[in-house]
Amino acid sequence: MTLRRLQVTDFRCLQRIDLVPDPDFTFICGANASGKTSLLEAIYLLGRGRSFRTRRLDPIFRRGAERFVVFGEAKAGDRDVPLGVEGSTTGLRARIDGRNAASLAELALALPTQIIDPEVHKLIEEGPGRRRRFLDWGVFHVEQGFVNHWQKYQQALRQRNAALKARQPQAITTVWDTELVRHGESISAARSRYVEILLPHTREVGRRLLGRDVSLSLRSGWQKGLGLEAALQQSWNADRERGSTLVGPQRAELLVQVDGVTAKDEVSRGQQKLLAAALLLAQLKLFGTESAARPVLLLDDPAAELDSRHLGLLMDEVRTLPLQLFVTSLSEKVDALGTPGTRVRIDSGNLVSF
Ligand SMILES: Nc1ncnc2c1ncn2[C@@H]1O[C@H](COP(=O)(O)OP(=O)(O)OP(=O)(O)O)[C@@H](O)[C@H]1O
Ligand SMILES: [Mg+2]
Repeated sequence: MTLRRLQVTDFRCLQRIDLVPDPDFTFICGANASGKTSLLEAIYLLGRGRSFRTRRLDPIFRRGAERFVVFGEAKAGDRDVPLGVEGSTTGLRARIDGRNAASLAELALALPTQIIDPEVHKLIEEGPGRRRRFLDWGVFHVEQGFVNHWQKYQQALRQRNAALKARQPQAITTVWDTELVRHGESISAARSRYVEILLPHTREVGRRLLGRDVSLSLRSGWQKGLGLEAALQQSWNADRERGSTLVGPQRAELLVQVDGVTAKDEVSRGQQKLLAAALLLAQLKLFGTESAARPVLLLDDPAAELDSRHLGLLMDEVRTLPLQLFVTSLSEKVDALGTPGTRVRIDSGNLVSF
């Protein structure tokens, strides 16, 4: 897919933006607080159905506005598919190709989007939730049935947790276990397969960006060697005490190691950024081997985050990938980043060509 057109209305500081991105590389420069990250956030919303900065909608509405719209046209084959996400007081609504999207996950198929931003180190530093989301984005794109298992699992988990909270008897609470086991085992198996095929790409990119051995392994979220059914039974007393289900793929952990040591305990902040970028680029590399679609990669001010040698290494790696690139920068100087097909400057939320 290629984003051919982008219109943003009343989104953060952007009142009205109309951009025709380059199919390969669009460069966006601007001073602090000019709206660069907001523009990337709008593209991300179109490809993910959520922001990378907030889980809430209200900070996104331009101050005073009650509605925001991000509209795009994504080229799929020889067709331009219209995509739209609208935020209003009733929530978020997505339209794809002239119809309402059944779920926001549909957007991810229409416009696969990744971001490397100044917060990227959180992928390594923070708890397992971000790493699970990272993993699931990848699995989603290579395993057809994954979304269905994921949605069914979440539904059953919500019901089971509600029963636990209401202190329902075991016979009622565990009614959901069959669904949990069926979908939970499938989610976990799909994640394992994905980690296996992602690992060689991670090693390769990690070696080039960090000069070290980067490895990945998955902990399923329940005791090794035990099926999920047995793990749920074993956890019953603890679940009842805590009022929530303590085993299952919602507790999975993707372990990231550098030279055999858990990454977050060992590497510097700068290395965490490179490592997280290596994971994301490895994922995009794998994406390229599994799918004919070109993903969108958003790089938010990489020059401010990395020294010139590592920035060069990152950009060399990015250039090997089949993707549509958007890069922001404080500076107009673009040399270290490559040759953009389109350059724009953003000034107080407005685009100016230069
Ligand atoms: N809901 C909103 N309505 C209006 N303005 C907003 C809203 N949310 C954020 N802003 C403002 O938008 C401006 C641009 O923010 P943004 O993060 O996009 O800037 P930036 O160009 O990425 O800056 P930096 O270089 O510092 O990262 C900021 O001044 C911010 O306060
Ligand atoms: Mg910014």
